[in-house]
Amino acid sequence: MHYRPFGRTGLFVSQLCLGTMTFGGEGGLWSQIGRLQQAEAERLVGRSLDAGINFIDTADVYSDGLSETITGQALKNLKVPRENVIVATKVFGETGRKAANSRGASRLHIMDGVKASLRRLQLNHIDLYQIHGFDPATPIEETVRALDALVQQGHVRYVGVSNWAAWQIMKALGIAERLGLARFESLQAYYTVAGRDLERELAPMMASEGLALMVWSPLAGGLLSGKPIVEGDRRSSFDFPPVDRPRAAVCVDAMRPMAEKRGISVAQVALAWLLHQPVVTSVIIGAKREDQLEDNLAAVGVTLEPAELAALAEVSALPREYPGWMLERQGEQRRRQLAGG
Ligand SMILES: NC(=O)c1ccc[n+]([C@@H]2O[C@H](COP(=O)([O-])OP(=O)(O)OC[C@H]3O[C@@H](n4cnc5c(N)ncnc54)[C@H](OP(=O)(O)O)[C@@H]3O)[C@@H](O)[C@H]2O)c1
Repeated sequence: MHYRPFGRTGLFVSQLCLGTMTFGGEGGLWSQIGRLQQAEAERLVGRSLDAGINFIDTADVYSDGLSETITGQALKNLKVPRENVIVATKVFGETGRKAANSRGASRLHIMDGVKASLRRLQLNHIDLYQIHGFDPATPIEETVRALDALVQQGHVRYVGVSNWAAWQIMKALGIAERLGLARFESLQAYYTVAGRDLERELAPMMASEGLALMVWSPLAGGLLSGKPIVEGDRRSSFDFPPVDRPRAAVCVDAMRPMAEKRGISVAQVALAWLLHQPVVTSVIIGAKREDQLEDNLAAVGVTLEPAELAALAEVSALPREYPGWMLERQGEQRRRQLAGG
């Protein structure tokens, strides 16, 4: 396991992060994603830590808080020294309570949310507190100020964001800089070989601003494992995230011989592709069973050859879009000029 710098911070995180969305499984949607109870979840947490993972991602909404509760109890039962694990959670959606102010990125909801998460996790502080989605009803400054207060109060070490557009993140970074407040250090976003949209606006923004990238649904909800989807598999009842199926099928076809050549799973190749992308800091792996976790953990040992990466880049290339092609063309002219051409 390698440890990578977390954006501009002094923190190092493992290249794989354990996702806990399969813990709990109460309620319609969540039971389709996973139903791991304490003992099984604890085995996944223990095995991940043994494999060198030091990074765990949860959210208040997962199973209406049960994922946080199980994660916190697992860390306690396993007697994990607090400084050995970086715990990330999120706030934004409704968790249990349903009232006018029990959602969003308002100061009120963030302040309530952090207390509830700390209680469920049985922790004194959260290492990374992420806003789980963009809230058009709350001024960004209100969100940034509330997060900064949490850092100053010691409830939260770092703050991050998930599922925001590049311009929204830039606006928040500008506000934080202007007011001297804690800034978003990371983005948690969807990115796979079959869904490279992030490369258009978000990746250049992250490179420019030094944000860490945590990748969610790295197997596109199981689809990029290449397995036939059968009853009981998550994709059979919860068809998310949206994926261009023909593109995903072409990617799986390209990855399969790479997997066969090495005697490994297609899932490992899909995860390894992400680990080879310079923009990626940590890939959040999801597992419903121990064998899936083992398979996913092994991806850190997979090196893809330049020719294989080029072949995958070709089959998964994004359609060219404005202003991308113009930026590329003008950038090329300026690079030639710089080189004296
Ligand atoms: N910020 C956000 O909005 C957001 C959104 C989604 C997820 N996340 C985070 O990202 C983490 C991972 O997301 P995810 O669970 O969607 O990841 P994923 O890797 O795309 O999907 C995981 C699912 O794929 C199947 N699977 C996993 N490993 C496999 C393997 N080796 N071979 C075959 N099938 C395999 C399992 O479902 P089946 O066995 O049922 O097929 C498993 O539950 C979550 O736990 C959460 O922490 C964040």
